[in-house]
Amino acid sequence: MSRIEKALEKAAQMRNCEPAIHVVEKPVREEVPPPRQSETRTITINADNRLLPTIKEPHSAVSEQYRKLKSALVRLTNEDRFRNLLMVTSAIAGEGKSMTAANLAISMAQEYDLTVLLIDADLRRPSIHNYLGFEQTIGLSDCLQDGINLGDAIIKTDIDKLSIISAGREVAKPLELFASKKMQDLMAEIKHRYNDRYVIIDTPPLLPFAETRSLAHIVDGVIFVIHEGVTPQESVAEAKEILKGCPVLGVVLNDSTALDLENSHYSRYYTRQTAS
Ligand SMILES: Nc1ncnc2c1ncn2[C@@H]1O[C@H](COP(=O)(O)OP(=O)(O)OP(=O)(O)O)[C@@H](O)[C@H]1O
Ligand SMILES: [Mg+2]
Repeated sequence: MSRIEKALEKAAQMRNCEPAIHVVEKPVREEVPPPRQSETRTITINADNRLLPTIKEPHSAVSEQYRKLKSALVRLTNEDRFRNLLMVTSAIAGEGKSMTAANLAISMAQEYDLTVLLIDADLRRPSIHNYLGFEQTIGLSDCLQDGINLGDAIIKTDIDKLSIISAGREVAKPLELFASKKMQDLMAEIKHRYNDRYVIIDTPPLLPFAETRSLAHIVDGVIFVIHEGVTPQESVAEAKEILKGCPVLGVVLNDSTALDLENSHYSRYYTRQTAS
């Protein structure tokens, strides 16, 4: 009997009546068999998502900005050696990290002779499956918790060179799992196992979650997103301090009004890359 049930029973005894409710506890995780994906799943990306202009409108001004971002990253990551493990992050929540990661991955897989693995490492609030439009099955959390093989967690997409590892099953303590040694080991495995392709990792924000910071020290490159007019300057300054010593490749200014787009409809999407 759980502590809650005991407390309820005791309260009932004190009232001299039966407990009015019964607590149904969630089954402990160990009782749930890890899901299996018998064969590689292929999903069709939701081409109607207005937040995926790289698919919906590949010739738009916004998609052009993503192409510029991609070109700069390809240049920066091929200077001395191939630096393939890249993470997208930002100072605070809701700045456009997932949208940037998804569009960047699509843009890379579409246009260059590049293969891309997009990983949703935001175990706290996963959203890549929502952006691309598919149901989550197994993913990163299952690899971390249940030792599922990375290869079994990979989802193919209708864009030939783009595959995905989604966040996976909901976990009780996502941030602990994110910060675990297992996560570090898994990232090292991903980097070497998929050393022929770019790995784009969507992460939680930096300031509220110390765990994201540890990842920033492991990856080959950090892409830092700032939501123009939204991210407070002091948050950007704080994040800049945190990222000292990390391989920051550049900054994406999301939702910028800096570019005079011909079609104002697109201005909300405008993403300017300012890598230095
Ligand atoms: N340039 C943009 N144009 C239109 N909508 C945007 C833009 N940038 C962000 N949004 C909106 O802001 C919301 C947050 O975007 P996104 O999920 O990419 O942020 P995030 O940084 O990944 O958030 P979280 O920290 O919760 O993971 C989305 O619902 C999206 O609709
Ligand atoms: Mg996100």
